Amino acid sequence: MSKIIDGKQISAQVKQAVAEEVAQLKTEGIHPGLAVVLVGDNPASKVYVGSKEKACEQLGIYSEKYLLPGETTEEELLELVEKLNHKPEINGILVQLPLPEQINEETIINAIDPIKDVDAFHPNNVGKIMIGDFDFLPCTPAGIMDLIASTGVSIEGKNCVVIGRSNIVGKPMSMLLLHKNGTVTICHSRTQNLAEITRKADILVAAVGRPNFVTGDMVKEGAVVIDVGMNRLENGKLCGDVNFAEASERASYITPVPGGVGPMTIATLMRNTVTAAKLQAGRSKE
Ligand code: GUN
Repeated sequence: MSKIIDGKQISAQVKQAVAEEVAQLKTEGIHPGLAVVLVGDNPASKVYVGSKEKACEQLGIYSEKYLLPGETTEEELLELVEKLNHKPEINGILVQLPLPEQINEETIINAIDPIKDVDAFHPNNVGKIMIGDFDFLPCTPAGIMDLIASTGVSIEGKNCVVIGRSNIVGKPMSMLLLHKNGTVTICHSRTQNLAEITRKADILVAAVGRPNFVTGDMVKEGAVVIDVGMNRLENGKLCGDVNFAEASERASYITPVPGGVGPMTIATLMRNTVTAAKLQAGRSKE
C-alpha cells in the first residue's frame, strides 16, 4: 500500500509562509495584488477562480475579479489586460483558460506584461524556464515539484515519465524534472507502447484529462505517482487520470484527487504573486 501525498497539508504550509511574507512586505509598503479574469461561465473555471479569490483573502493579498460575458471580444479582453498591465495595485494577472473560441489564447498571453505573468505562460517566461533562470514557475508543475520533494525521493538520475504535453502542465513539468537531473520521457496520445514506458517510471506524472486512464498495470512497483487529472464524472464526482485503487497497490507515494495537486496550484499562484510584487518593487525574487 502506498503513502498518500497530502496536497492540502503541504499547500497549507506554503500558504502559511506566503501569508507571513505578505504581512512583512506590507510593513515595508509593498501590498501584493492579483487580478483574476474569467470570460464566460465554464463551471469548472468558476470554481477555480473562486478558490483563487478566497486564497488571496486568506493570505492578505489584494485581489480583483473580472467576470466577463462569454461574448466578450478579443479587443475587449486585450483592453482589460492592457489596463491591468498599467495598474499599480495589480502585480499579477491571471486570465483563466480555456477562453471562448472567438478569442485567441496566444494573443492574450502575449499581451500580458511578462513581469505580471504569474502563470508563467508568456513566451519570455517559458524561455526563461527552458534556460533554468526564471522569475516565475508555472503553478501546477511547481506545485508538483513541492509534492515530490515532500516524499524525500530524489529525482536525480530517476526515470521520470510525464503523460501529456500541454503548455500548462506537460511541457514545463518535463523541464522542471530535467533541471533536477531526472531522465525525462514525455508521452502523449500518439505514443506507442505507453504502458511499457510508464512501467519503467520511478516518477510518473499523469496529465491526460481522461478519468482512470492510468491503470495499476502501468505503474512500476515503488513509483511516485502524481495525478494532475480533474475530471468531472456524470455523477458529479471528481476523478483523476489515475485509477487510484489500483495504482495505490503498487506506488510508494501517490496523490489523491481531490486534495493532491489542485491545492498546490493555488499555493504556487499566491507565491508567484508575492514574487511579482517584489520584482516590481525593485527587489530580488528571494
Ligand atoms: N486553466 C487550467 N489551469 C490553469 C492555470 O494554471 N492558469 C490559467 N490561467 N488557466 C488555467
